[in-house]
Amino acid sequence: MKLIYEERDGILYFDGCDTVKLAKKYGTPLYVYSLTEIKNRIEELRKAFLDKYKNTRVAYAAKAFTSSAIFKLIDNEGLSLDVVSGGELYTAISVGFPAERIEFNGNNKLYEELVLAIEYGVGRIIVDGLEELDMIEEICQSYDKKIKVMYRITPGVNSDTHDYITTGKKDSKFGIPLDEEVFYPAVKNAIKSPFVEFYGLHFHVGSQLFDNESHLKALDILLSHIDEIRDRFAYEVKEINIGGGFGIKYTDEDRRPFEYFIDPSMKRINEHYSELNIERPNVVIEPGRSIVGEAGMTLYTIGSIKNIEGVRKYVSVDGGMTDNIRPALYQAKHNGMIANKMEMDRNDKVTVCGKCCESGDILIRDLDISKPEMGDILCVPSTGAYGYSMASNYNKNPIPAVVLAKDGEDSLIVRRQTYQDMLLNDIVPSWMD
Ligand code: LLP
Repeated sequence: MKLIYEERDGILYFDGCDTVKLAKKYGTPLYVYSLTEIKNRIEELRKAFLDKYKNTRVAYAAKAFTSSAIFKLIDNEGLSLDVVSGGELYTAISVGFPAERIEFNGNNKLYEELVLAIEYGVGRIIVDGLEELDMIEEICQSYDKKIKVMYRITPGVNSDTHDYITTGKKDSKFGIPLDEEVFYPAVKNAIKSPFVEFYGLHFHVGSQLFDNESHLKALDILLSHIDEIRDRFAYEVKEINIGGGFGIKYTDEDRRPFEYFIDPSMKRINEHYSELNIERPNVVIEPGRSIVGEAGMTLYTIGSIKNIEGVRKYVSVDGGMTDNIRPALYQAKHNGMIANKMEMDRNDKVTVCGKCCESGDILIRDLDISKPEMGDILCVPSTGAYGYSMASNYNKNPIPAVVLAKDGEDSLIVRRQTYQDMLLNDIVPSWMD
């Protein structure tokens, strides 16, 4: 498979594009995505899941990176889309993403978001709270529509990742609790409702996982509840959704192949249903990070350099926590390299910091790097997931542009925010004049 990162004459190339030229052309900070890499990931998913097992779907978790162009790409690739807000849904609608292939997640869907989803006729609403079904029924009734609903369960399993991104524990805001007196009445309501089709169960145990244990434990719990639903209500669910969460490479870790998560899960599901002699339901996964994470990188321009003798050397870049909150929020680790000094030895050790008025605005601690100078271009790889999508205007820093690279060609897919854009919603009341 072709290398996405390459060095040519001391310059870093990304999907065939000279990164220093990209920085000059579009300015920095700049998010750059490799279309080749995104497509490679999708191809891997086809091999490991879609082509290998029948009645399966991949729903790209849009929260990892939402933009009109990526939604268009996901549509062209024939994948489904998992959205979690009116805004993500609106973006999907605006590019004409087929409604049937959209599923709507989220622990507190607003009434107006549900209206938008039902009006558009999304394929699945993944119910995540007890109040939600009533709202869905009311809206379906008034629009004369019937919608497929899944229930997201809280399986009560822990996962080995940062506490902020575990989502399957009993003490979690996500999912419907499996307590006898809560879960089964809720299932019964959905089964007997004329406005919804109760389609199946869903879980998502956490993100950036390297161990398949939590998926497998949650799966056992999910399957036993499906059995119980069959026994109690003589009802067969049509779909199982086992979420996303597959970890990627940021620094030294090695990404597990998709098969590592998918094969044992499919084995368990297939065995379970063949023992019962029942056709197994559809199986859906919701990867976000593992599709776009390694495909994206950020380019910065190095500015001020502060060497505190015997303590550390701070190298400031023109972005920071506003374009990548992950190091500050989850102590996430990144690698980095000077894109215009690829041939030089990495014999300097620096701490890369952002430009925000916040001591925690550190992107990379103790990075081995070639000697940095003002004006150098710093590349931080693997920022494609939860970078742009979590960007903010803190300190009124504009949100960077996004460029898509492919075999030496580059296309702008999100233009850089301007100062003017940031003031669009500001109002100075006339009485202040
Ligand atoms: N499905 C559901 C229901 C989810 O809640 C999530 C992520 C996904 C799928 C996709 O998970 P992935 O394959 O991307 O791991 N901002 C955090 C990640 C939060 C993930 C929340 N849910 C971060 O930057 O690490």
